Amino acid sequence: MKKIIKFAPDYFLPHQQEFLDSEAKQKALVTGYGGGKTFAFIWETFMNHLFLVNKEGQSNGWIVYPTFSMAEELFVEPFLMLLDRYEIDYKYNSTKHLISSEYGKLRLYQLQTPHRMVGAELTFLGFDEFDIGSYKNCDIAYKKGVGRLRGSNKTKMYFVTTPEGYHYIHKLFVEDNEEGERHLIKAKSTDNPYLPADYIDDLRKNYDSKLVEQYMNGEFVNLRGSAAYYEFDRERHCKDFGIHNAEKKPQVLYMGMDFNVDPMSAVVAIKRDNKLIMFDEIILRNSNTRQMIDVIKERYPGAYISIAPDQTGGSRKTSAEIGVTDIHLLKQAGFKILGSGTNPSVKDSLNAVNAALYQGRLEIDKRCTALTNDFEKVVRDDAGEIDKKDSNLSHISDAGRYLVWSQFPLYGSAIRTRGR
Ligand SMILES: Nc1ncnc2c1ncn2[C@@H]1O[C@H](COP(=O)(O)OP(=O)(O)OP(=O)(O)O)[C@@H](O)[C@H]1O
Ligand SMILES: [Mg+2]
Repeated sequence: MKKIIKFAPDYFLPHQQEFLDSEAKQKALVTGYGGGKTFAFIWETFMNHLFLVNKEGQSNGWIVYPTFSMAEELFVEPFLMLLDRYEIDYKYNSTKHLISSEYGKLRLYQLQTPHRMVGAELTFLGFDEFDIGSYKNCDIAYKKGVGRLRGSNKTKMYFVTTPEGYHYIHKLFVEDNEEGERHLIKAKSTDNPYLPADYIDDLRKNYDSKLVEQYMNGEFVNLRGSAAYYEFDRERHCKDFGIHNAEKKPQVLYMGMDFNVDPMSAVVAIKRDNKLIMFDEIILRNSNTRQMIDVIKERYPGAYISIAPDQTGGSRKTSAEIGVTDIHLLKQAGFKILGSGTNPSVKDSLNAVNAALYQGRLEIDKRCTALTNDFEKVVRDDAGEIDKKDSNLSHISDAGRYLVWSQFPLYGSAIRTRGR
């Protein structure tokens, strides 16, 4: 039974309407966080499920989320609610990730494991949060999809995402789109009036200028090959705090630690008015964790110390004994270990440091010359990772990065979903 679906004229926002109306074989809606992408994506998928059919009159679609749990959380429930709203009977097999109705089939996949995408004769294929995937997984999924979209003469491939620099969406819709055959629609977070009032303020409070461009304004911001700590400015962030020379040394300390053997590096900080002030650095050549512990105890006797280490130090050892890990040794020495056991991604933790610098939540004492040098000179490589070519650079700033992450983590998605 063919349904007739009608909308009030302003039911969709203008950028959502443009996306839904586009007849391009490939189209993308790219916006800042909360721009209304998933809302449009679910409607696009609903209409395709009903109307984008093969010669047997059945649709056959794939929907791809970064992970199954994201698909469950963001897509399945609202999609099934739409089917209910229009009184369409369906079956949902959550083990097979398959939704079927009299109109056709819809299978969910995860971008994390693109090689598992099997099947053929698709009539449509949609991706939500596409740029979250690794470049390689995006490439595999895209190519698999293109090869399988042959279920009818008219097929559709559509993407919605917040941009992640010059990633796969930029390649498809900007770099490889000279003829303009792919349709790109862009919008800002502020173009969605349905967001809670404090949502935009929260984003602005937490992000630096480049991140605001990307995550609020939906612009492609290229961070590859550029300064990793681009918000650092020694004029603004370096001061003479005098903490080290103070008569009474601080008794509550925070440290970040990188276990590289040569050099082994640590930054020492205090927290004051919800600011992190890094005022000392310890750099040991050809060393190990035991020596580091000795130096710390000698310099800061009796202090209560929390350490945010490189979390891979839970398995790696710079000290000789079998079975004793670096983190184990720090715990034995009486230090509190911060962190969950895994390192943040380079992208997330660099974003956290830059945001902290921009927001004035991170300051550095002038005596930390190695850290200052790193903050000025470390760059990202072509993959967006920290460039490790210069072996003298990036260890002490890695230590600083772990510490900032432990105090001011910046989970894009946590900020995004708050209050919604
Ligand atoms: N046309 C609309 N009418 C009513 N509410 C809407 C509309 N478009 C979006 N919204 C609401 O705005 C909020 C954000 O929308 P949505 O989740 O689609 O944004 P998003 O761009 O996918 O966000 P994220 O970047 O977090 O993935 C949701 O609560 C959604 O229901
Ligand atoms: Mg979304």
